[in-house]
Amino acid sequence: MGSLIVLASGNGSNFQAIAEYFNNLNTHTISALITDQLSAYALARAKSLAIPYYVVPYFKKDRTTAEKIMASIISTYNTDLIALAGFMRILSPAFIHQFRGKIINIHPSLLPSYPGTNSIARAYEAGESQLGITVHYVDEGVDTGTIIIQKSIPRAPTLEIMTERIHQLEHETYPRILHSLLDSQ
Ligand code: GRF
Repeated sequence: MGSLIVLASGNGSNFQAIAEYFNNLNTHTISALITDQLSAYALARAKSLAIPYYVVPYFKKDRTTAEKIMASIISTYNTDLIALAGFMRILSPAFIHQFRGKIINIHPSLLPSYPGTNSIARAYEAGESQLGITVHYVDEGVDTGTIIIQKSIPRAPTLEIMTERIHQLEHETYPRILHSLLDSQ
């Protein structure tokens, strides 16, 4: 029985896809959501899914304190895997070291192309004929960790449709990958 915690800063559609998937499993559980943003829509999703949630703000940009609080929540649940899903903070090398091999991220581009923010629009505007997603381990860099899986889909007629399809692909892929990572632990 594995335990997963999700970190999200915003909308939380990936968090919801993961939560719904894991709520239908009897092997592993999603223990909690942690967010750094009181205004994150992910919080409303956690409430309606009855998943415990924690708001850990980075007061005055104090990353060390915020990470200590997050680490203690993560330890309380004997967490096997930490899934970043739109978590808009850079984790410190110390935090990554503490949980090395347990922190996973999903990114909406075919890394190493288009790391950072606004990736779908940048790839689309660059005229790419294939766009996609990457699930990867988190290391000290920004979107640089070892790749676990990539999936690509063809360019859509508009950026709006492309964005929807990329998110759909994320929602189909991320929960399954987290499941198989927990299975193999
Ligand atoms: C997703 O596109 C994810 O790949 C990226 O941030 C976005 C989060 O979306 N890291 P949501 O909050 O899960 O809806």
